[in-house]
Amino acid sequence: IRDQWHTMTRTGKARRLLQHIGEPFVALHPEDARRHRIGDGQLASVENRHGAIVMRARLTTDQRPGELFVPMHWSSPFSARARMGALVQATTDPLSGQPESKFSRVRVAPCAVRWQGFLITRERRDDPRCFYWSYSPLPQGHLFELAGRDDPDRARRRLAALISEPGDADDLHWLEMQDPYIGHFRQAAVRNGRLMGVLFIHPKGDLPGRDWLIEMLQRNALEDMERRALLSGEAPDGGAESGPVVCACFQVGESAIRARIEAGDGSVEALGKSLRCGTNCGSCIPELKHILAG
Ligand code: FES
Repeated sequence: IRDQWHTMTRTGKARRLLQHIGEPFVALHPEDARRHRIGDGQLASVENRHGAIVMRARLTTDQRPGELFVPMHWSSPFSARARMGALVQATTDPLSGQPESKFSRVRVAPCAVRWQGFLITRERRDDPRCFYWSYSPLPQGHLFELAGRDDPDRARRRLAALISEPGDADDLHWLEMQDPYIGHFRQAAVRNGRLMGVLFIHPKGDLPGRDWLIEMLQRNALEDMERRALLSGEAPDGGAESGPVVCACFQVGESAIRARIEAGDGSVEALGKSLRCGTNCGSCIPELKHILAG
């Protein structure tokens, strides 16, 4: 993908790059997705006799029917089950030794999980040890997208321990909202007015965006209203999420681009004039065209 290089040993440290595509994915044509009963954004397993991986499905007509695309970038430090090398057959070029990693025969299927969620922490401690996780560094913390097949209540207890440090339990103030009957939990930990971390879990992945909570993690002191809004995951003044970052150079989100298109910007050049997107390295231009094409 345009933002990452090889297995992200360098580019994976740049939060700005992961704001565009922050999770591994499998791209498939909507017709194939329908045949295999896979919804857009749902977790899907891709497997063959060599191994199996799990990633989020992206339905797109850019993908040829009968073929899947999986990026090569996500390795074990960034995700639990997305290392696509697991599916590559042991055929190598006789001279360079390079594996034939472009083509593998695979099966794709929906991947059932009991819950989905995300964890934002100030410190990175253990990996979450969930069935599925995917990691992105933040300016002052760490974001894990999560999904599990275990009991959500048990998962919540285990994961909340990744927010607090041993010995600091007395200083931490926990905010909680839970419905154990359906397995819906939201927790936030605050210490001396600073947000230390949040954990949101929902059986169907019905969750708010992450942007505002990530912004709160960067504050030295939360205002009263912000603190009270933490468990909603949304700004108290109803500020809109900027959506996924499309232009990494100028940090322009998809929502801002769509708003400008609605306001009459009908070309990449016009968007560049109003938002600057696409006017530096230009690697976001194909995506800008895609959004313009509607
Ligand atoms: S990503 Fe470089 S100009 Fe948009």
